[in-house]
Order: sequence, then structure tokens, then C-alpha cells
Amino acid sequence: MHRHDVVVVGAGLAGQRAALAAVEAGKDVAIVSKLHPLRSHSGAAQGGINAAVGAEDSVDTHIYDTVKGSDYLGDQDAIEFFCRSAGPTVVEMEHFGTIFSRGSDGQLASRPFGGQGFPRTIYAADRTGLALLQALYERLGTESFTLYEEWDLTRIVVGEGRVQGIIAFDRRHGDFAGIAAKSVVIATGPAGRVYGRTTNAHSCTGDGIAAAYRAGALLKDMEFVQFHPTALLESGILITEGARGEGGILKNVNGERFMSKYAPHVLDLASRDVVSRAIWTEVKEGRGFPGGYVHLELMHLGRERIESRLQEICDFCRNFAGVDPVTQPIPIMPGQHYMMGGVGTNIRGETNIPGLFAAGEAACVSIHGANRLGGNSLLETLVFGKEAGIHAAAHAEKASTTEIPNGLVEEETALIRGMSERKDGEEPQHLRAEMQATMDELVGIYRHPNDLTEALRRIRALQTRYQSVRVVDRSSIYNINLTDALETGHMLDLAEVIVIGAIARTESRGAHARVDFPRRDDVNWMKHTMARRTATGPELSYAPVAFTRWEPKERVY
Ligand code: FUM
Repeated sequence: MHRHDVVVVGAGLAGQRAALAAVEAGKDVAIVSKLHPLRSHSGAAQGGINAAVGAEDSVDTHIYDTVKGSDYLGDQDAIEFFCRSAGPTVVEMEHFGTIFSRGSDGQLASRPFGGQGFPRTIYAADRTGLALLQALYERLGTESFTLYEEWDLTRIVVGEGRVQGIIAFDRRHGDFAGIAAKSVVIATGPAGRVYGRTTNAHSCTGDGIAAAYRAGALLKDMEFVQFHPTALLESGILITEGARGEGGILKNVNGERFMSKYAPHVLDLASRDVVSRAIWTEVKEGRGFPGGYVHLELMHLGRERIESRLQEICDFCRNFAGVDPVTQPIPIMPGQHYMMGGVGTNIRGETNIPGLFAAGEAACVSIHGANRLGGNSLLETLVFGKEAGIHAAAHAEKASTTEIPNGLVEEETALIRGMSERKDGEEPQHLRAEMQATMDELVGIYRHPNDLTEALRRIRALQTRYQSVRVVDRSSIYNINLTDALETGHMLDLAEVIVIGAIARTESRGAHARVDFPRRDDVNWMKHTMARRTATGPELSYAPVAFTRWEPKERVY
């Protein structure tokens, strides 16, 4: 039997930062991760991390930009805390060894990002997430903690009204085990793979969000799904917003810089929801290139700037699209990129279940509201990862350990092993592919009511078929077929919550654009959606948005 004070599930930036905070508070900490920490999806973040540290910038402007970017659904008390923490967080990461890019004056370099009134996105070329992840991993490596690497979370154990630990599957040895914990932090990242066309890694299957939901945690604002404007055609690989921050421009088939129609003041650097809708509209109205896409042009920036500031996207374009951005336009279309929703938490990372915490993209504090600004995600992982770690440690101080009963581990093992014992049934990869096609086709940038209803019907049919999911591979070592089955079940739960929330929200706000309700409706919908799991599906309730200083206004860029 394993036991720890604090168990952090997920080893990306949020998880590692939570673990570091809990270790520094003197707790016995474990990280449980299905990946090696340096393979976490945080490492895919390219463009940068926001902090108002420039002499002419201000924290208030960062707060205002974030509130406005959220389409006024972000909780302003949380946003104020978040933006005030930005400068110290970046400095701390620099002291941990992050090699940020620098200007000719030796100061931290920063670039403009969408929807922001100042170029405050600090970067490490176009590998910012990777640079942060490596520095944090090295820092954490100087501390003592336990790493359960390549373990899949299967259940969060709740008893006597509080968290008691988790059950997880050790891929390398093929065993299930209970891990008792006084506090559990969910930092497993997003569920972007509910979509087929996504910038998210294949590992982004929402395991922690689904496990929390199944354990009784409330999910918040799951209907708000961000589409990044510039995902490489076909592969969906992210082409950083930093490309437009450096001066890249979008053009349609007629050679028009079409963003002048949609965001006359800031053009290509409007917020992501606005730019994604603009690209979608251009293509749907026949101004896209044959096959349906637009161009992102960087050629005018010159080889030196492109190859030094955007090294990684040069490689991606050359290797995955066969185009050289120095001399050719990049074919792009929007792709699913981020989930504003997640496990509902407060600023301390606390959920509605005592002892259960969440941070990073798996959580919804909410600072992003209906639309996140680029560069606020890396910051969120570090600011709220640390908070969750501090408060998980404080909770562990008062809580006692309850061993995970063997019977419960056996029950979980039998349930999951049952998938391998079926003679026939549904193969998880087919269910996953159908779910992704449904979400791509029916729950996209613009949402039609009939499409959403059809999406719900299809997702529920897939959930029924999942009851007979079959794992063909009987081996116990590195059974990726089993992992696939577990992940698919998680994503089907979350897809249902996304669609139900989108059907219910009869307005358009941020990334949620309903064709039948094209306007924002502050009278009826200035509220967070909360989803609780019941035997018959998600039950929705609503929670108020916190306001401090900013009254809702029409959002124009
Ligand atoms: O475009 C990007 O580099 C993505 C950044 C982000 O999502 O924050």
C-alpha cells in the first residue's frame, strides 16, 4: 500500500509547481503521471507567458485585457490575483534557470499577443513551454518526492465526505494500486483530444477532469472551447500566435488582409475567438483557398527574424506541410486548442470535495471566462499550481490518512479487467474516432442548435456502446490498448458535458458562438455553468461571476 500526504496527478507545469509548493511546505509528496514529466503537454506551448513587467505596461492593463478577453465571464477577483502574481512568477522561473529570449538591451524580450494592449508576452523563442518545463523539472529534482511514472489514474477515492486517495494502473508492471493521500491535486491538463483536429497532444484526454467528475466534483464552464486561429493544415500542429506577434499577417484567396473587416483596430492580433471566426467565415463564404484554408504570411519579416524567433514553427512547416515560411505562405485553419472549462476551483485550487484540488488546464478558477488570452495559460499553470500545492499541503496538515481498502482496488481491477475478458464488443479506437468526428463536425466554432442536439444523440449512443468496450490486447505490460479504452471512456463523459452546456447556453459569448443566439445576453447568462454527474447524465446549475472594478461592455478589437 502506498501512502503520501499530497498526491499530485499530472507532471506538467501545474503539477510540478504544485508538487514543489507542497514539498517546500514539508509534506511527503508524490506525483503520478502517465508520461515522463518532460513529455507533458506543457512543453508544447510555444509563444510565451504574460507578465506586465515592461516600464510602460501596467498590471491593471493586464487585468483589464484578461477581463475583456474573457467576455466578462472571468471572475475578476481571481484575475486580479493572477495578474499581480505574473511578474514574481516570471522572475522566479528565470531564477530557476529558464533561458528566456532577451532584447538588445539585455532585458527580457516580449512580443505582442492577441487581445492585449501591450506587448507583454515574454518568450523563449517559440519553445517557451519547454524552456519552463525543463527549468522547473531541474528545480523540483533537487527536492525529495516520489514519482509514479507511466501510471494511469483510474479513480479518485472519496469517503466520509473527503478525498482519501486514488487508484491507478501501473503500465510498466500491469498492476492496479491504491495510493492513500490526505490531499489530491488534479493537474492532468486538458481534454482536447475529444476533438480530432486539435493542437493538443495525444495524451490530452481529460483523465483527471473525468475522474474528478465521477467522484462528485463540479465541472465549470465546459461549453467554452477555444479554437486557435492558426493550426497547420492537415496535421493541426500549432503555429504560434507569436508568428502574428512578430508581424505575420493573414490573407484570403484574393490576397486581402481580411482581418481589417473583423477587427479594424488590431487586425491579426484580435483575440482568438474573433480571429478564428473570421477565418471560418472567409472560408465558408468562398474566400478560402481550394480545400478550405487561408494563408499566414511571414515572408516579409525576413529570414533572420523568422529563423531566430520562430525556429520551431519553421521546422513544423517544412516537415509537416512542405512549405518554407521564409519564402512561402503557411496554409492554416483554426484547430481546437484549449478548454476554458474544467474542474471548478477557487483561487486556492479547492474544489467542492474537501481534500481535492485542481490546477492548470484541468481546472477552471475561472480567469479565462469565455475566451482565454494567449500567454495566460503558461502563467496560469504556475500561479495556480503553486496555490493548489500550498493549500493541498495546508489541508494535509489537518487531515488524517485513510488506507484505500483492498476490496476497492480489487473492484476497480475487476471492472477494468472485464474489458479484456469480453469475447466481442466495441474497439475503443473506433469509438474515439467517431466521437472526434462528431465534435469536429457538430460542436465547432459556430454552433447550430440542431447540430448540438445531434451531437448529444451521437455521444450518448457512443456511451452506450462503450458499455461493451473490448480490450483485445491481453498483455499486462504496456497495454496501450487498455490505456486507450480508459481514455476514451473519460473523453466520452466530458464530451457529453461540453455539448449539454452548449445546448443550454442560449447566447453567444467568447468562444461559444450560437448561430441562433448571436448576441451576448448579460441579463440571463452572466453566470458560470456548473455540471454535476448523475446516473442520467450531467445536471446543470449556475454560479455567479465575481466582479470587482470592470463593468461589462461591448467587446470590440
Ligand atoms: O500561440 C501560442 O503560442 C499559444 C499560446 C497559448 O495558448 O497561450
